[in-house]
Amino acid sequence: MRIILLGAPGAGKGTQAQFISSTFNIPQISTGDMLRAAINEGTPLGMEAKKIMDDGKLVSDEIILELVKERLDRHDCKNGCLFDGFPRTIAQAEALKNDSIKIDHVIDINVNDDEIIKRMSGRRVHLSSGRTYHVLFNPPVREGLDDVTGEPLVQREDDSEQTVRKRLEVYHCQTAPLIDYYQKWEQSGDPEAPRFSSVNGTGSVEQIKNSILDILRS
Ligand code: AP5
Ligand code: ZN
Repeated sequence: MRIILLGAPGAGKGTQAQFISSTFNIPQISTGDMLRAAINEGTPLGMEAKKIMDDGKLVSDEIILELVKERLDRHDCKNGCLFDGFPRTIAQAEALKNDSIKIDHVIDINVNDDEIIKRMSGRRVHLSSGRTYHVLFNPPVREGLDDVTGEPLVQREDDSEQTVRKRLEVYHCQTAPLIDYYQKWEQSGDPEAPRFSSVNGTGSVEQIKNSILDILRS
């Protein structure tokens, strides 16, 4: 099964991706996590991406498509995968379509901008795995430490309120049109079209997880 999780920054894509990926035993492909790994390793790609990410803008389609292509060639993707934060532009979605990478489900997690601003200030992440927590809404067992490795959690550099507002602006302009794109494709009756669903992303983590699992199991 191949699944795309759509949603604004902070909608909960990464949080839900962890559950879906383990439930269906498919790898999570988070382009954001891949870029942060490249930044940590200090690669030329990471250095180029850092400035763009810190400004809240999108990395070029060319770089992202190359990263995703390499990732999809790996053995663990043979039974499917879960895309988190990709595609993020119409051009990226078209590239997937043109490469005949069949997607079964597109799930949009819908959260309003005010709620997102609240969430981002409390987010903490384990950088090497991408595991995500929130100091109030989804705290780790031990404060400030990752549940699995016990390593310290950090705040993402692009989580300042100013950058979050910029990321939301970029989302509404460049990524939200994908909702219409996938809805129209499904309505066209094309048998290759993925099934599009939208879930309310403002309940508890558990409620949203159950809504998504209901869609994927039906
Ligand atoms: P990326 O890492 O993908 O960031 P994003 O899309 O902005 O999304 P986030 O990771 O911020 O949010 P999320 O939806 O995963 O929410 P989370 O689960 O963490 O991308 C970063 C940057 O990389 C981009 O700005 C861009 O520059 C670049 N990039 C990446 N992919 C790209 C692409 N394809 N093309 C071009 N550029 C690309 O949850 C947020 C917080 O809320 C957490 O603290 C969580 O614990 C909490 N939370 C989750 N669910 C709930 C809930 N139900 N109730 C309360 N709190 C909750
Ligand atoms: Zn994320």
